[in-house]
Amino acid sequence: MDKLFIHGGRPLQGTVRVSGAKNAALPILIATLLAPGEHLLDNVPDLADVGLTLSLLGRIGCPSLVPEGAGARVRLDTSRIAWSEAPYDVVRKMRASVLVLGPLLARQGQARVSLPGGCAIGVRPVDQHLKGLEALGCRFELEGGYVNGRVDHLRGAEIHFDMPTVTGTENVLMAAVLADGVSVLHNAAREPEVVDLARFLRAMGARIEGEGTSTITVDGVPALRPPRAPYAIMPDRIEAGTYLAAAAITGGAVTVEQAPVDELGAVIEALRAAGCEVSTDTQGGGPGGRVHLRRTGPLQPVSIETQPHPGFPTDMQAQWMALMSVAQGRSEIRETIFENRFMHAAELLRMGARIEPDGHCAVVNGVPALQGATVMATDLRASASLVLAGLAAQGSTEILRLYHLDRGYERLEAKLNALGADVQRVPDDVRLVRPGSAQPVRVAG
Ligand code: EPU
Repeated sequence: MDKLFIHGGRPLQGTVRVSGAKNAALPILIATLLAPGEHLLDNVPDLADVGLTLSLLGRIGCPSLVPEGAGARVRLDTSRIAWSEAPYDVVRKMRASVLVLGPLLARQGQARVSLPGGCAIGVRPVDQHLKGLEALGCRFELEGGYVNGRVDHLRGAEIHFDMPTVTGTENVLMAAVLADGVSVLHNAAREPEVVDLARFLRAMGARIEGEGTSTITVDGVPALRPPRAPYAIMPDRIEAGTYLAAAAITGGAVTVEQAPVDELGAVIEALRAAGCEVSTDTQGGGPGGRVHLRRTGPLQPVSIETQPHPGFPTDMQAQWMALMSVAQGRSEIRETIFENRFMHAAELLRMGARIEPDGHCAVVNGVPALQGATVMATDLRASASLVLAGLAAQGSTEILRLYHLDRGYERLEAKLNALGADVQRVPDDVRLVRPGSAQPVRVAG
C-alpha cells in the first residue's frame, strides 16, 4: 500500500485541469446496461472506483476497453448480459455498485445485489431506492445479505422520496426510462451529476424532463440505444472545489480549468466570504469554464452548513474544515446530510487544529499554523482535507491509507506538484526519518 508525504508551506501557483466527475461517471457507466450495443464515453476519470465499476460490468458480461491515460475514451459493449448480480466483494468496496439494481431490473427483469451496509460516514440505507423501484412494480426479497429483485412489467408511477437521495434518484430514474407510462419523481435530488445522467439517458432515447429540479418527469420508452456520438462526462465540481481550497489554504493563486463554474456557486461564495479573490469565466472552452482564485490577505472564518444542491456540498465539508483550521477566528461547520462525517476532525487535531465536534456541528477556532504529522485517511473527502492541511502545515505530513484518495482524485500528486507543491507517493515501508525534511528515506527491512 502507498502513502503520501507532503512538505508543506508552499503557496500553489499555476493552472490545473479538472477531470471527469466520479459521481457522474459511475451512474453513466452503469446506465449503459440499459441500451444493448457499443458505447463510447469521453472524459472518464482514471480512478479506482471507475476501475471497480468496469470490473463489475465485466462480471455482468459487458467487457470494456480502456486505453492508457487520463480522460481516455472508454469503449463498452453491453450487447449481452450474462449475470444479473452485484456481489458483496464489489459492493462493500464501492456503494455505488447498488446502482446496477434499476438498470438490471429494467433490462433483465431480475437482479441480485448485495446490500452495502454502513460506511465510514454513516449508516446510508437504500430503502428509498427499493421504495421507488417497488412503486414501479418491482418486488424484493432479502436473502443472506442480498436483495433479490424481480419485475414482470415496469409501470410508470408517482414516487415521493422521503429525502433527496442522489443515487436513489438515479437508480429509480434508470428503471423509469423503460417503464410503461409516465413516472413522476417527487423530492428528487437536484445534484448536477443527476442532471448529467439524465442527459446521457436522453442521448440514448429516453424522455425525461425536470432534471435539476426536485420534480423529474419520465415518459417511458420501449427500448434505448447507445448514443450516436461519444458522450463526455461532466467535469468534477468537488475536485475543482478541492483545488480552489488548496490555493486558498496555501495563500496561492491558481486557475482551475474545465471547471463546472455554474455548479460551484456555494463553494465560490464561501471562498469569497473567506477573503479570497475569485473570478470566473464560463467561456473556458471544453466541457467547463475557468475559475481563478487568489489569496493575499488572511483567511476569514466562514461558517457553513451542508445542504443538498445548490447548497454547500457535503463532499466539500471536510476540505472546508481544514481551511477554517487556519482562519483568523471561530467558525461553525454543520453537517446535515450524513450523521458521521467528522472523522477528519480527530486527524486535524493531531496537526494542531482546534476543533470541537459535537453531534452534527463542529466549532473550529483557527490557529496561526498547522504542524506536519502522521495522519490516517478515513474516507475519500477526509483524505482530501488532510492533503490540504498538509499543504499548509509547517514541516512534513505523512498520510496513511491512501487508497481512499485514489477512489476520487485522478493523479492528485502530479496535479499538485505541477502547481508547485511538494507531494510524494511512496510505499508504506518508507519512513520519514528526518522530521521537516522533504525527502523520504527508505528504512532497511
Ligand atoms: N438515505 C436514506 N435512504 C436511502 C438513500 C439515502 O436514508 O435509501 C440518506 C443517506 O443515509 C444520507 C442522505 O439520505 O443521509 C443522502 O444520501 P444520498 O443517497 O444522497 O447519498 P448517496 O447517493 O449514497 C452520493 C454521492 C456521495 C455524496 C452524496 C451526497 C455518489 C456515488 N455518491 O451518495 O459522494 O456525498 O451523494 O451528495 O454519487 C463522495 O464522492 O465522497 C461521496 C460520498
